Amino acid sequence: MRKYIVAGNWKMNTTVPEGVELAKAVAAKAGEVPANVELVVAPPFTHLVSVAEALKGSKVALSAQNCADHEKGAYTGEIAANMLVSAGCSYTILGHSERRQYYGETDEKLVEKVKLALANGLKVILCVGENLDEREAGKHFDVVAGQTKAVLYNFTAEDMKNIVIAYEPVWAIGTGKTASAEQAEEIHACIRKVLADKFGAQVAEDTTILYGGSCKPSNAKELFAQPDIDGGLIGGAALKADDFIAIALSF
Ligand code: 13P
Repeated sequence: MRKYIVAGNWKMNTTVPEGVELAKAVAAKAGEVPANVELVVAPPFTHLVSVAEALKGSKVALSAQNCADHEKGAYTGEIAANMLVSAGCSYTILGHSERRQYYGETDEKLVEKVKLALANGLKVILCVGENLDEREAGKHFDVVAGQTKAVLYNFTAEDMKNIVIAYEPVWAIGTGKTASAEQAEEIHACIRKVLADKFGAQVAEDTTILYGGSCKPSNAKELFAQPDIDGGLIGGAALKADDFIAIALSF
């Protein structure tokens, strides 16, 4: 059965006390959200232990925004998958376009990261999405299908039970420009077809595919009404508990 998820990617925002306050505010309202919608928050690494504590007893799951492509050792500044688990995470986001764009994250590195995340019991939210030039050149289907295959075709149907995909068109992130429900739906359907080709129709049907990019309370309902959109990966609007919860109430 496909799961619905609304996940908040806080990116590099909030201090630890601010993050704890935000987490508490989300946890306090999480009970309003239907049981079939999972809530996830992804604060910066420095916040994870404190936010885990703030979320205790709530239905909100904790995610990291990235993890290392090595298991442990001399990798200064990196955070390993098992550290995330020990801090209370059950998810990690991987392959966000900001990491691909600014930090040289390649599909090859992502394969290693996904392997380590899964091996340590983390669920993965893998991000894919085309940039503006690629969309204007009409390459968006090829780019997204290519990114999806380059990473996920290294995994098994069993692994797919712990992998969520987030389609985030780069031109819609933080720009206030949302993909229309039709634009998002056709890419989601394309991703599901890419999954079906490799893993079969059932795995494709069961995989959660989120939309991300200027998703907010005013447009979430129309996006989530699409047959292949199973929730959202929310940036800016996840920094306000009321907006985040309102999005989760949009199914
Ligand atoms: P915005 O919702 O701020 O556009 O960010 C989307 C995003 O990148 C979530 O990962």
